[in-house]
Amino acid sequence: MEPVSIIDIQNWDEPCSEQIQSRAVESLELGKVLFFPHLKFHLNHGESRFLHPGKLARGARNISLDPGRGIVSGTSCRGSDYDDLREMMLRLLNAARTFVNILCPRYSEELIPGRTSLQPVAIGGRRTSNRLDDTLLHVDAFPAYPVQGKRILRVLTNVSPERVDRVWRIGEPFEDVARRFLNRLPRQLPHSSRLLELLGITKGFRTEYDYLMLRLHNAMKKDKLYQQSARTIEVTLPPGSTWLVFTDAASHAARSGQHVLEQTFYLPVDAMAHQDLSPLRILERLGGRRLT
Ligand code: CO
Repeated sequence: MEPVSIIDIQNWDEPCSEQIQSRAVESLELGKVLFFPHLKFHLNHGESRFLHPGKLARGARNISLDPGRGIVSGTSCRGSDYDDLREMMLRLLNAARTFVNILCPRYSEELIPGRTSLQPVAIGGRRTSNRLDDTLLHVDAFPAYPVQGKRILRVLTNVSPERVDRVWRIGEPFEDVARRFLNRLPRQLPHSSRLLELLGITKGFRTEYDYLMLRLHNAMKKDKLYQQSARTIEVTLPPGSTWLVFTDAASHAARSGQHVLEQTFYLPVDAMAHQDLSPLRILERLGGRRLT
């Protein structure tokens, strides 16, 4: 399968044809990266200062905006600097939401905005544990934020002022990955989810689906042989380009790059054109039981 589908839209609020809309939905749901080579997120005068690693708070992995509370965390910015940073991130949230609504109108009613985030440190520029190392091939799953079966749709845009490409490797289709790892994944202990929720370790109830996705994410990253031998295709995502992808299904590894702004959305599976292509339905089919 060709892992990338290219669409040449240049503006975040540009109307698009039904033909493009259906191609976008089909490609995304098949687990492809939808690539917009000329869709640029413009930084206002002075905003490139937020791309400096010094703007990251000590110990933080990224700077992120919580859309519910409207608060930016992970940054050392204060005062008017903080206000300007928040303004930039809100602008991306709004641009990305408008864009997905136009491109995938069937999702718009049910699309839930998640975090807006920025990683000012270059990929591979710091040592980290396997589990947090996104240069390893993985599908996304969040330890603290159970999605309860919802899809993770991400809009990513390369805003590098130094003309640095983002390079990704894209792996095998989700079902192949799931078949390879599923029988190795342990079962969730009964009552553990309620406990995690009560203790505030997870925000919401960790379903069996969340548990399996997390285990799958970890198992992929831990398996050295798999990391070396999995069939992957390298994709170059230059400055001034944007891409959309369901990162819970498309296995990906960030090879290199810096300065990518990212907007996360959640989407209930029933908003999809092909629910059966969701990781939830694939894992349920392979496991022979309901997972939410
Ligand atoms: Co990822």
